[in-house]
Amino acid sequence: MKLGGSALAGTALLGLAGCGGGGESGSEVTEFTFSFGPDSSGSLQRLVDRFNQKFQGKYKANYRVMAADTGQYFNQLKTEFQAGGGETDLIGGDVIWPIQFAANGWIEDLSDRFTVEERAKFLPAPVQSCTYDDKVYGVPWFTDAGMLYYREDLLERSGFSEPPKTWSELKEQTRKVVQDSGMEDGFVFQGARYEGGVVNGLEYIWTSGGDVIDPEDPEKVVIDEPGAVEGLAIERSMVESGVAPKAVSTYAEQECQAAFLNGRAVFCRNWPYMYALATGEGESRLEPGQVGVAPLPVAEDHGESFSGLGGWNFYLNAASSEEEKEAAYEFVEFATAPEQQKFRALNGSFLPTLQSLYDDQEILEKVPVIALGKEAIKNARPRPLSPYYSDMSLEMAEQFNASLKGAKSPEEAIRTLDRELQEIVDLGEIS
Ligand code: GLC
Repeated sequence: MKLGGSALAGTALLGLAGCGGGGESGSEVTEFTFSFGPDSSGSLQRLVDRFNQKFQGKYKANYRVMAADTGQYFNQLKTEFQAGGGETDLIGGDVIWPIQFAANGWIEDLSDRFTVEERAKFLPAPVQSCTYDDKVYGVPWFTDAGMLYYREDLLERSGFSEPPKTWSELKEQTRKVVQDSGMEDGFVFQGARYEGGVVNGLEYIWTSGGDVIDPEDPEKVVIDEPGAVEGLAIERSMVESGVAPKAVSTYAEQECQAAFLNGRAVFCRNWPYMYALATGEGESRLEPGQVGVAPLPVAEDHGESFSGLGGWNFYLNAASSEEEKEAAYEFVEFATAPEQQKFRALNGSFLPTLQSLYDDQEILEKVPVIALGKEAIKNARPRPLSPYYSDMSLEMAEQFNASLKGAKSPEEAIRTLDRELQEIVDLGEIS
């Protein structure tokens, strides 16, 4: 728990500060607050309980449930940081956050704690996402890449032995399966005006040969190229052709998940976590044999499939006390250790960040999405690694969504973005 300025002075006078502020006065237990979004797999609370059990009498983690929408969660933290620290000591945070948080001095430099030797055990891309100015500000927890889920049984029934490799094949297969099986929705994906909509839009752009920022020069916006326009045009054509329901322009992960798990959709773009939900007991109406997963399709004349690199890392609040930081880092080590990452892989289909777990036979056999994820993350692209990313993302969310809804043409949306993104970069103001 953190209290800023005069509030802290006030509690100190009352003798309540110290030892994490959460325990009773004089208690030896260091309590700390760990924030993360809601966890539909149920495995996170079990992880927290295991930690609290293991460190009973010494440390206690309190799970603070944040907004499921990464943008809302980010804004909440940002408001708290700006007010002097906030409630949270340990942040389970998105891969797109650390550069901006680090540039503002809000999160702790972990370069000494998370040593070069330790870092080498992790996948390079998530470590890269935590690196800013040659320092490392986070420890990768689980990684994410966009995937295409499909109804294996229905595809087969309609005579398709393989999932689609291109966006046009996806349309063709959807039409046929919808006709044969009377499905309500064909293809669902995240099209709402938020971060997920940004990743989906980028995936259409990347699989059509476009990009946003020059990989060689982070100051140069390169979105105004035919590939980007084509990408948004393909995305929009999903709705225009009736392959995707109109409502996808309001869909986030949860809505897509509901459509697929309830058996309403043939195809669904989502993250690996959905595999455990789709094939598990709980809310899914599907049997494991009905669920297939494949890499995202590509545009006709572009060979390679790309997906957005997602994922979540651990960051420490720079304003927490040394005791809280120590306790919180103990949790980081605990949660990223092989045993716990394996537990989350088996119980929530979260892609591990430790390289060694991709050779773990039990994981590969029981959670096929992870074997596929191993390939997908090789082709996963990060969103722009920039201290201005959150501002860029808001613009992309707006323009991608306007194009998807048909309020603007893809050309117009891309032209607007070209101008606005370059303005953000040129202004160089970290919000
Ligand atoms: C997933 C990804 C995260 C991304 C978010 C968008 O949680 O891991 O990186 O920003 O989806 O909704």
